[in-house]
Amino acid sequence: MNMQKIEVREGNFNLQDYQKAYQQFDWEEAKQAFSWSETGKVNIAYEAIDRHAENPDKADQTALLFTSPDREERITFTDLKQSSNQFANVLKDKGIEKGDRVFLFMPRSPEFYAAFFGILKVGAIAGPLFEAFMEQAVRDRLEDSEATMLVTTPELLERVPYKELPQLKQIVLVGDADVQEEGFIHFHNEMTQASQSFDLEWVDLEDGMLLHYTSGSTGKPKGVYHVHNAMLQHYQTSKWVLDLQQDDVYWCTADPGWVTGTSYGIFGPWLNGVTNVIVGGRFSPENWYKALQDYGVTVWYSAPTAFRKLMSAGEEAVEPFDISKLRHIASVGEPLNPEVIAWGLDAFKLRIHDTWWMTETGAQLICNYPAMEMKPGSMGKPFPGIVASIIDNEGNELPPNQMGNLAIKSPWPSMMRAIWNRPEKFESYFLNGWYISGDSAYYDEEGYFWFQGRLDDVINTSGERVGPFEVESKLIEHAAVAEAGVIGKPDPERGEIIKAFITLNEGYEESEELLEDIRQFVKKGLSAHAAPRELEVKDKIPKTRSGKIMRRLLKSWELGLPTGDVSTLEE
Ligand code: PRX
Repeated sequence: MNMQKIEVREGNFNLQDYQKAYQQFDWEEAKQAFSWSETGKVNIAYEAIDRHAENPDKADQTALLFTSPDREERITFTDLKQSSNQFANVLKDKGIEKGDRVFLFMPRSPEFYAAFFGILKVGAIAGPLFEAFMEQAVRDRLEDSEATMLVTTPELLERVPYKELPQLKQIVLVGDADVQEEGFIHFHNEMTQASQSFDLEWVDLEDGMLLHYTSGSTGKPKGVYHVHNAMLQHYQTSKWVLDLQQDDVYWCTADPGWVTGTSYGIFGPWLNGVTNVIVGGRFSPENWYKALQDYGVTVWYSAPTAFRKLMSAGEEAVEPFDISKLRHIASVGEPLNPEVIAWGLDAFKLRIHDTWWMTETGAQLICNYPAMEMKPGSMGKPFPGIVASIIDNEGNELPPNQMGNLAIKSPWPSMMRAIWNRPEKFESYFLNGWYISGDSAYYDEEGYFWFQGRLDDVINTSGERVGPFEVESKLIEHAAVAEAGVIGKPDPERGEIIKAFITLNEGYEESEELLEDIRQFVKKGLSAHAAPRELEVKDKIPKTRSGKIMRRLLKSWELGLPTGDVSTLEE
């Protein structure tokens, strides 16, 4: 595993001496970058957008470079300030107040970003939903958050069961739509009438700004609640890990429905005043290389699953494009294979820097830095100001080279402040003052951390986090399915794929058509990425005497591993 270290390239990086920064850095220092350290007036939307619009050197700089198959726009900080002010005025007019939850269910577009910042400007909490979600996934999140308003498109509206969501009072439709029905609002009509100036709602650093739903191994997805204070870490990590500098053109490939798409697709670049490229539409090696070339991307943040796809497209896919402006690449979401790093050195002549963090952590915690030697396969070292360790199940720290719970000393600026409506769930993350990540890892004598796997049943498929319980619940809603157990099965390209074991109800016979129908049922109910790629019919699903599905046993069967302790298995 321990490949040779990869040396640092020459470069004028923001962080030149990691060791020194780790010893000396204090989060107090990061505060100096923000206007509220002097004015006392806090709002992350102000720091990310308005502050630059009010700066003559930045006002006309392109903030957002948007491209999708049918649209291309350059939007300045001034434009974005004005459009988000307009939307804030619409929200205020419709009675949205501080602390209200306003959800967004739409593809990336200039309107999305105007709406997103408009929500923050009135002090409301934004809840971005991945556009591929189907009805059940949308319903669960809107129900749990008790969102009172949703911003969506006419095309996606059919997946919103709004008639069954009594608390959802208003729906803003972005696009051509007939809005006769009560509670519906026409985005473009309202925007053209709204003023471009707005008195921003100043909030407290600890006030809420974002709810991101994510999956655990049990129960429905949980609402991870983030506050304005997270900006400290969004800013500082983007500066030191992504090495954002004033003339950079930055591209984060993640959708804002996932935390990477907000922390580093929105806040990180704009808090640093950098031009941000947003690419809508579908992934293809040609589209991506073309985007890197056409926009002169200098810093690129993506995921192992995407790099692996590019790798399998071969060198001939990249050759026609001039991507020589690219100077720094980072990765997140799943283990970054040393092979991929080796390929990156070949294809781009650059190191790909792994970073580790989670929805709950709000920002990067363990990273590889441009001016630090890299050990391929390692997630790197803790960010300055962050204490990471490996602890046993009793909360004791373990020495180097021993595997255990990857844990972070609580708190840090961007840490979640709650799980929405579930205080006991929130508490369950902590032990002896440590935040327990759910990942297992170890660190070596030089302080590099090495990811080993998940300790729970959470599945990571193509960098997307899927809870087995959600998929199992959907499967048994299908008329043919009696019981279901869902696991992640290792896959060379996707990291893991979802495999479901099911038993059939009486009167149903196993057939290709039936299995495909079940697969489609999950896909249409939850989302494509949550649909099992493999389905296997069993006579019985192994369960404990208390009725819990033994996914661990299913996984051992699947992988042909020893089954371990099965003393709790029911008769
Ligand atoms: O298991 C780890 C994996 O993704 C989980 C967090 O998923 P999510 O909340 O969706 O956030 C993803 C992006 C921030 C972690 O518990 N993970 C994330 N980054 C890495 C990783 N696994 C290995 N290496 C990484 N760099």
